[in-house]
Amino acid sequence: MKICIIGTGYVGLVSGACFSDLGNDVICVDKEKDKIFDLKNGIIPIYEPGLEELVIKNYKTKKLNFTNDLRSAVRKSDIIFICVGTPIKKNCNAADLTQVYDVSKEIRKNIRSFKIIVTKSTVPVTTGDEIEKIISRKISKKKFSIVSNPEFLREGEAIRDFIYPDRIVIGTSDKKSNKILKSLYSPLISKGAKYFNTTRRAAELIKYSSNAFLATKITFINEIANLCEKINVNVEDVSIGMGLDNRIGSRFLRTGPGYGGSCFPKDTRAIVETGKKFNIDLSIIKNVIKSNQNRSKILLSRVSKILNNKIKNKKICFLGVTFKANTDDMRESSSLKMIPYLSKKGAKITYYDPTGEKKEFKKIKNVKFCNSIKSACSLCDLIIIHTEWNDFKSLNFKNLSRKKNFTLYDMRNIYLPDKMKKDKIIYFGIGR
Ligand code: UDX
Repeated sequence: MKICIIGTGYVGLVSGACFSDLGNDVICVDKEKDKIFDLKNGIIPIYEPGLEELVIKNYKTKKLNFTNDLRSAVRKSDIIFICVGTPIKKNCNAADLTQVYDVSKEIRKNIRSFKIIVTKSTVPVTTGDEIEKIISRKISKKKFSIVSNPEFLREGEAIRDFIYPDRIVIGTSDKKSNKILKSLYSPLISKGAKYFNTTRRAAELIKYSSNAFLATKITFINEIANLCEKINVNVEDVSIGMGLDNRIGSRFLRTGPGYGGSCFPKDTRAIVETGKKFNIDLSIIKNVIKSNQNRSKILLSRVSKILNNKIKNKKICFLGVTFKANTDDMRESSSLKMIPYLSKKGAKITYYDPTGEKKEFKKIKNVKFCNSIKSACSLCDLIIIHTEWNDFKSLNFKNLSRKKNFTLYDMRNIYLPDKMKKDKIIYFGIGR
């Protein structure tokens, strides 16, 4: 099929590359000229394992192309995916839909034959209705349909999540559009993906509700971890014991420094705003947001206790600063709260991250990026494992720090306390 993807950010580029790899003719549109120039030269602006190869391979076979010319791309395509950004509005929690509506007006100018217009960006419930209103001001409803097809891609696993999704959600009551999209996704359905057709608004809400629920699950185990620390229980055992109940499931039940990223924080706030708009108080999600925002404070007070409330001049190393492993994304990472706080308290901070130095820390006093784990740890009083990169999973700490009595604070519970004890390493985990 002939597909147009508008927006070559994280969702658009992954979707475009994967759709082309499934044999479709895909044209990705972006208004930024340098972005398109880079993509045509195999320069991918996103750190996503496997994406570069997929883009280069399909660009070579001409199944995938890039352009700034939205006009011709829309005219040539049967299905148009809107994959532009929907960031949180400044000084409020609602999603900013400016780009979505601007692109809808551009599409409207170029509808000559029947088009299926699909929102893949995460958009609040009723956005599809608004887009329909915008386009039907100038174009007959017989010439287009607006469909919601939310993505469930995790950063670092996006290609796998696209090719092997648990489910494909298609929000439309238009039979013809549903049939066409079902055939577009048929290669994935034949590999076991569940296809679920529902109304457009339900599809929009499924996306937000899924992210809000996953954020709730994570926050739930983080609060249980706080309790575990008081009653000498290992939260990992609680998580395993709970997860064996298939009504609960073991995934997204790992304690840590709190959820970050570009989705959970944004989507939980946006769905609460949607609730407010319809006078519904989504109190659980509101509390999840509050609890997660407070999490860094709890872990920082633990750091202070570990250092006997003497942070000034202490040498602290952060292993990993991104919001999770296998991504270079720093958005809403808990390190963005922890490192500035500790620096203000007078700590001397070094950090190592496999994705390199971060601009976010360049201007902060006494914070230094090190090119290796060893150089980051060598003179530290406290080593903090912040992100669960594989690089940190089998370290020989004795060789890493030249300080005899350094402490290890493992915010991802990667290591076993008994093993640490045996190696005579002063060790703290989370929730145990
Ligand atoms: C999330 C959703 O998983 C995905 O379906 C949606 O499309 C986009 O948002 P992403 O934000 O890329 O994906 O990362 P995810 O793997 O979900 O992790 C989000 C945050 O939760 C990270 O900070 C991670 O460290 C944290 N997390 C995740 C936990 O603390 N514990 C867990 O068990 C899982």
